[in-house]
Amino acid sequence: MEDLSAQAAGCKLCALGETRRSIVFGEGNPRASLMLVGEAPGEKEDETGKPFVGPAGRILNKILDEAGIHREDVYITGVVKCRPPKNRLPKKAEVTACVPFLEKQIELIRPGIIVCLGSFATQTLLDPKAKITEVRGKWFEEGGIKIMPTYHPAAVFHDQEKLDAIREDFRQVKAAYETLK
Ligand code: URA
Repeated sequence: MEDLSAQAAGCKLCALGETRRSIVFGEGNPRASLMLVGEAPGEKEDETGKPFVGPAGRILNKILDEAGIHREDVYITGVVKCRPPKNRLPKKAEVTACVPFLEKQIELIRPGIIVCLGSFATQTLLDPKAKITEVRGKWFEEGGIKIMPTYHPAAVFHDQEKLDAIREDFRQVKAAYETLK
């Protein structure tokens, strides 16, 4: 994982390499049985180089706490490792350039479970046509890995009810995670 992270250092494979401050490669346990995948870094992440440390991160921490999952035991990353200007959605070319890093992270970690945090991660890892409202809270499987899509923690800012949905999904995740420990 360290070699892979070193390969990403200084990456200029897409235009985000010109505007980012930090590469947010991912953090956590490289042997985690549970991996969380978000979209792309926001402002605070770009500033610190760590995933989910801004407002969405505070929601995620609360959800993990409530579910009884220790943040340091899991591995957290995003589809795209550099912040898109003004937090716009990553472009196709940016995903194409960056997704091999995520694929290699998954190969190295070999988690039993991946939680896709939001529509973007779900469409990247599961199905480009997936609708988050339809697939969230359901289990899928790819290459022996259980995949659970849920809403992105930042969705809670626009719709407080999504918090209960994410909590519910993480209760399922925790139950499955327990069987892997
Ligand atoms: N949103 C994401 O998808 N990832 C982060 O690291 C922060 C916010």
